[in-house]
Amino acid sequence: MLIEDPSLIGKTKIFRKEVKTMKKILALAIVLVMIASLSVAAYADDVKVAFSQIGQESDWRTANTDSIKGTIEAHDGWTLIYDDAQQKQENQIKALRNFITQGVDYILFTGVVETGWDEVLAEVNEAEIPLILIDRMPDCADKIDYVAAFGGDFVEEGRRQVAWAGEYLKSIGRGDEEVCVAIMEGTTGSGAQVGRTEGNLAALKEYPNMKLVAQQSGNFTRTEGQAVMEAWLKSVDKIDVLIVQNDDMGLGAIDAIKAAGLVPGKDIIIVGCDSVKAAFEAIVAGEMNATIECTPLYGPFVEKTIEDLEAGKTFEKTILHPEEGVYDCVGGIDLGTVTSVLAADVIDSRVY
Ligand code: AHR
Repeated sequence: MLIEDPSLIGKTKIFRKEVKTMKKILALAIVLVMIASLSVAAYADDVKVAFSQIGQESDWRTANTDSIKGTIEAHDGWTLIYDDAQQKQENQIKALRNFITQGVDYILFTGVVETGWDEVLAEVNEAEIPLILIDRMPDCADKIDYVAAFGGDFVEEGRRQVAWAGEYLKSIGRGDEEVCVAIMEGTTGSGAQVGRTEGNLAALKEYPNMKLVAQQSGNFTRTEGQAVMEAWLKSVDKIDVLIVQNDDMGLGAIDAIKAAGLVPGKDIIIVGCDSVKAAFEAIVAGEMNATIECTPLYGPFVEKTIEDLEAGKTFEKTILHPEEGVYDCVGGIDLGTVTSVLAADVIDSRVY
């Protein structure tokens, strides 16, 4: 461009600069508006899922936490708010109230014990936050609203433990021999302990040759399982069969039995519960005899439930039990509702 008035040269340069700056500001403003609208959309899609977990007392619990955490965190647009109560009911109550204050969209709950939840779960209902019960059910389940519930059939698991021992004894020709049975229970007052003990004791009535000689809690941990077994080996005259309400306590008991110079799996028949990988290894090594399955893998169930609820679907108020197996050192033990599978045949496919 030809500029006839030389005094305008500098001014034109300044004008061009101003136009450039304005263009930059405009572009920046457009970008900012786009970012803002994107984050509003992302925020609108965000589903906050809160999970009150009991603690980390066993391999089962770790697998359960991993399954739920992994599934929620991997889901697009979902955020997990996780609380580990470290086996304390008061921590769980606090966590539930925090979830309400934060205005989460869903609460996943499993109670360390069965009783004492009426008030706080009523508060969850009042806040109209959909409640999903998993694993251990509270005893007030009938009185509160929940959108879905999913957990093991603890009474049946307990029945299977004793029935497996009774049928196995018959299969090796010891069906009429009087045998001494010890029951190591889980956390006192938990749904898993209450239900499995009910099943254990009911099944013992079906096998008159099996005599109960000891019964105590090992709190579902390996350390306490070992300590309880050590004490029993000193104070109880004879134990032929050990029914342990989870595998971790069974693994602790195996250490105690070996330390006492006895052979686990032979001198004492051991029937665990959960079917964790370490129990399969113990069975294959001949140190444990059977494990009754209780699945911890609730992640996919929770995901499907929330997806359905988000899509407007509703569920019947009912507690669903997954199908579970029995794994052992022989295979083919018929328990009426299920037949045992040889642990060695499926150990490689176990995921927890
Ligand atoms: O509630 C399930 C039980 O809790 C499992 O059997 C046990 O291992 C866990 O700690």
